[in-house]
Amino acid sequence: MKITRRNWLRQAAGTVAAAGVPAMLGRRANALSKPHHHVDPNVITGEGSLMAHASARGLLTGAAVNIQLLRSDETYRRVLGEQYSILVGENCMKFGPTQPKPDVYYFNDADGLVTFAEANGMKVRGHNFIWHEYLPEWFTGTVTKENAKKILVDHIMTVGGRYKGRIHSWDVVNEAIWIEDGRPDGLRSSSPWFQMLGPEYIDLAYRTAHEADPNAFLTYNDYGIEYDNAEEGKKRAAVLDLLKRMKAAGTPIDALGVQSHLNSASTNSFGRGTTELLDAARQLGLQVFITELDVKDDGQETDDIAKRDEEVAHVYRAFTGSMLEGKQVKAVLTWGVSDAHSWLNGPKWRVKHPDRLQRPLPFDSDYTPKPAFFALRDSFDKAKRR
Ligand code: XIL
Repeated sequence: MKITRRNWLRQAAGTVAAAGVPAMLGRRANALSKPHHHVDPNVITGEGSLMAHASARGLLTGAAVNIQLLRSDETYRRVLGEQYSILVGENCMKFGPTQPKPDVYYFNDADGLVTFAEANGMKVRGHNFIWHEYLPEWFTGTVTKENAKKILVDHIMTVGGRYKGRIHSWDVVNEAIWIEDGRPDGLRSSSPWFQMLGPEYIDLAYRTAHEADPNAFLTYNDYGIEYDNAEEGKKRAAVLDLLKRMKAAGTPIDALGVQSHLNSASTNSFGRGTTELLDAARQLGLQVFITELDVKDDGQETDDIAKRDEEVAHVYRAFTGSMLEGKQVKAVLTWGVSDAHSWLNGPKWRVKHPDRLQRPLPFDSDYTPKPAFFALRDSFDKAKRR
């Protein structure tokens, strides 16, 4: 059944049930945990969970959710419920999926995510309103310089309005900086939003998001701002300039999302650049969230899984250890739960070792915790209470 803009309001109550996402039996379903081979479940659930260790320090921790798995995989739902205090849709709240036709909105998937999270006492990040990717097919050909403003505002008001008061933080604009486009301010001029509306699309999106959901923390989210190299240094500076300009203009912005797609084969260090970034965010009064943490291992020479897992865990430990030294970072989310479903196992990201699956996440394909799980949990333990 299609949900048109006219009837989705009428259907709102019904769609939640239609989403067909069973809620967990309750927050403390740990007693039902089946033992993982070679890891005692009691060691990693309940007081041993990522969530418990994070919340002892005033931190939220979470993961990006694959909506198909949420519907079909009971173990997946159990692990989500046991481990996390905040969820984000991997794709289900993006522009394309939520507005498949100019006058048709689709909310079954996003409703399923929000309903599941709320039934389990978890918060939800909204990801995202405005991005140059994941746009619907109708976008090109329909959106013009004349109607782009209305389309942007309608989209944010409709999607943001539907979940008003239920979203912890919205990624209002995603990845607006792209140094390679050559502008002095670093803005991604190749983005269709920029091409239709110019740089003002950014402030417009935040002002509209504030109107749609005044209580959500409005976040700017970007990647390639983690490592201490010249390229990422330039991007960090451009992101900071953008945030400063927005603050100076009185644009409502509350937080910076540092995506944190890292690479265990990288020879670059991190810590110096991110410390400067976090200090600058503090001066601007912005919270910081680690929004999409994962660690590529395609570039690692060795096929030895134990060795690769140790390298990946080392990056988790070093990165989150350094990011959590100060009190600016309030939430840590990984981009997925188990390696089996990581976006990094698409062909695009398996270049050096195309026949090998990457192992970028805290859980193995059978949901057994990996060294990265323990590294992340140790970083929470070492963090100061915030
Ligand atoms: C990715 C999803 O993981 C994929 O399933 C999808 O095909 C493309 O998008 N930065 C972001 C996320 O902000 O939305 C991206 O998610 C990963 C990079």
